[in-house]
Parts: sequence; C-alpha cells; structure tokens
Amino acid sequence: MSPGSKQPRKPCIVLGVTGSIAAYKAAELVRLMMRKGWDVSVVMTSGAMEFVTPLTFQTLSRNTVGTGLFDEKEGWHPEHISYADRADLLVIAPCTANVIAKLAQGLADDLLTCTALATRAPVLVAPAMNDGMWCHPATRANVELLQSRGVSFVDVGVGELACEREGAGRLAELDVILMKAEAILKSK
Ligand SMILES: Cc1cc2nc3c(=O)[nH]c(=O)nc-3n(C[C@H](O)[C@H](O)[C@H](O)COP(=O)(O)O)c2cc1C
Repeated sequence: MSPGSKQPRKPCIVLGVTGSIAAYKAAELVRLMMRKGWDVSVVMTSGAMEFVTPLTFQTLSRNTVGTGLFDEKEGWHPEHISYADRADLLVIAPCTANVIAKLAQGLADDLLTCTALATRAPVLVAPAMNDGMWCHPATRANVELLQSRGVSFVDVGVGELACEREGAGRLAELDVILMKAEAILKSK
C-alpha cells in the first residue's frame, strides 16, 4: 500500500450471543474473528449473561458490548439501530430455540432481536440446543421460514449434548461458522 493511501475498512461483524450452554464457545469465536482482522461488536441477550459475562467479550473484542435495549451508552442514536446499520454481517452464535422463534415471528423485545429486525445486513444463525428442541416441529418450521427469507444457517453438530444425550443440536465447529461467515462477506 502506498504511503498516504487509505487502509481498507475492516468488515464489521455484529455477533449475537444467546442463552445457550454453548455461549462460552462464542468467546473463542470472537478471538478467531479478530484474527481475521474483522471488527467485532458483541450483543448479548440477558439469557447469555447467565452463562458468560460481557467483560469477557468486551476484552476479547476490544469493543463495548451491547446488553440492554434501554441502556444507551453514548449519544442519542438508538443502540439497536447503530448495531443494525454498522453490521456487514449479523452472526448469531450460539442461537437458542427462543431467538430462532423470535426471529421467525419478527419479535423485537431485546437489543439483539431489535437489531436483527432493523438490519439490512445478511444474517447467519448457528443454532445450539437440546435434540428435542431442535427436532420440535415448531423449531423446524421456524428454521424453514427463516431460510425462505434468506437467513443462512450453519448445520448443527450431531453427538454428545450438554444434557448427556446423544443427538442433533450441538453448536457447529467454530471453524465451520467462521468459513460460512467469510463466504457470506466475500459474496456481498
Ligand atoms: C443450563 C441451561 C442450558 C440451556 N441451554 C440451552 C441451549 O443450548 N439452547 C437453547 O435453545 N436453550 C437453552 N436453554 C434455555 C434458554 O436459556 C432459555 O430458552 C432462555 O429463555 C433463552 O433466552 P435468549 O434466547 O433470550 O437468550 C438453557 C437453559 C439452561 C438453564
């Protein structure tokens, strides 16, 4: 790059983290995204904060973490609109059955779901849940509806689940989530 020429803008990823037992894996996902040179902003649901603290994500992402719809941190601009407008890609990993259902219905009762409804960026969902929740007809219908609207999904893993059962519903491997995110960014 010649002296004085502008650095290309880093892709901005808004990473939604929800209340799954797999929420701790999102910390490593942030590290892998940072290594790619992406600008990562994490938005957590209150469920996610039962499992991991915002401080973990704030430190790893070197960015403030969005936690509450009504906790404005800076300026007058609604935070969910800032996240929605800033995102080149919204990744939700891990994504609970609850958030999948909210996205399918267009519900917007927290910072993450408001951001998801407001954004024009592509959305990538990496679900994680118990096999019963994953196979439930309600979840199946919600996933199909979201896919028909252009939301991308990372396939769940099959194997040992946190509830000591074997089945489908594990969070996909982090490198698979990362590869899918990269492919979406490249195709934009
Ligand atoms: C120990 C524990 C583990 C849970 N793990 C999951 C999970 O992996 N996936 C899921 O969909 N829900 C899981 N839940 C249920 C969610 O936390 C619950 O539906 C919550 O309302 C989700 O909130 P959120 O979707 O706003 O983050 C778990 C609950 C508990 C107590």
